[in-house]
Amino acid sequence: MEKGYEMAIEIKATGKAVPPQRVSNDDLAVRVDTSDEWIRSHTGIGARHIAADDTAGSDLAAEAAFNTLSMAAEGDDIPEKTIEEILPTIDLIVLGTTSPDYYGCPSTACVVQSKLGAKNAAALDINAACSSFIYGIETAAGMLSINEKRRRALIIGTEVLSRIVDWNDRSLCVLFGDGAGAVLVEKTRTEGRRGLLRTVLGADGTGAEHLIIRRGGGRSPIKDGETVKSHPHVEMNGQAVYNFAVKAVTETIEELLRLEGITIDDVSRIVPHQANARIVQAAAKRLDISEEKFFLNIEEYANTSAASIPIALDELNRKGEIRRGDIIMTVGFGAGLTYGGNLIVW
Ligand code: UT7
Repeated sequence: MEKGYEMAIEIKATGKAVPPQRVSNDDLAVRVDTSDEWIRSHTGIGARHIAADDTAGSDLAAEAAFNTLSMAAEGDDIPEKTIEEILPTIDLIVLGTTSPDYYGCPSTACVVQSKLGAKNAAALDINAACSSFIYGIETAAGMLSINEKRRRALIIGTEVLSRIVDWNDRSLCVLFGDGAGAVLVEKTRTEGRRGLLRTVLGADGTGAEHLIIRRGGGRSPIKDGETVKSHPHVEMNGQAVYNFAVKAVTETIEELLRLEGITIDDVSRIVPHQANARIVQAAAKRLDISEEKFFLNIEEYANTSAASIPIALDELNRKGEIRRGDIIMTVGFGAGLTYGGNLIVW
């Protein structure tokens, strides 16, 4: 390595894919015993987007990845000027999802690799539920850093949660939506601080029962003749997850700032997992951070689990609200229970 230059894992482009079918709270209230007033006041959600029956997580993921590569090709940051030129340079696809195309195998990442035609990419799924993107950046950074032959990775979060919610459970089905988000990262040599600065990751498996898809796995396989109601679906202890989430978000923000030796004023924006606006408000209040610092788009997309942070990052990026050199913080939590956050110099 040249003197004065350091290896960095930099985000080069972002993209998202959201299904066109938009279901507002009022639309939902026609078939579920709920109301716009309840959903908004308890969560900040105003709508969600739902995938068509023939759309799977890999379809949304591939679309988000193409949009990411298209941004990269149009920009000045990399020499390649078409998606076809970039694709063979992708060494790795790390994909987070809790609603994979197939349970077990093949991984959704491999399906996406095929859809993209990213022939030279190794591909794997990771499952840290809603924290998957945060875990995914760290996973990709480690895999790029450890092998000199790997340079570029796509990190994708994708979900079709509409397939794994029980539409008769009003306390749950109103919370979730479908979508995908992606980033292209590259291992570079730069002067000064750039790219991924630091990640905090954690888990508390003792809370596994609080947010769980019980059916369909080895613990509770589906037997012949069972009804649709027995199909895999999310079950949640909302209050327990809420309490865990506020603590996890608060402590992760504090930990990232402390370890990096910076203050909240050094951070341009915080991009939290979009699960419930009230969780963000509670953490902001505890830490005495302005709510404006947090980017929220939950009103439009609801909770898209592994996709929520990369979708939010892409929206912020395309709005021109992130400038080169800005420090961006991600923070999230999810089933597992898992939590974590990244500090990234854009
Ligand atoms: O990324 C995944 C992580 N998941 C989360 O972050 C979820 C964390 N938890 C939460 O966000 C909140 O706990 C919820 C939004 C899920 C629930 O909010 P809450 O304020 O804890 O409501 P609750 O479950 O205590 O329910 C309050 C009332 C109940 O009625 P009663 O018993 O007081 O008469 C529910 O039956 O609200 C009722 N209710 C609803 N009413 C209308 C629950 N869901 C609905 C609904 N519409 N959709």
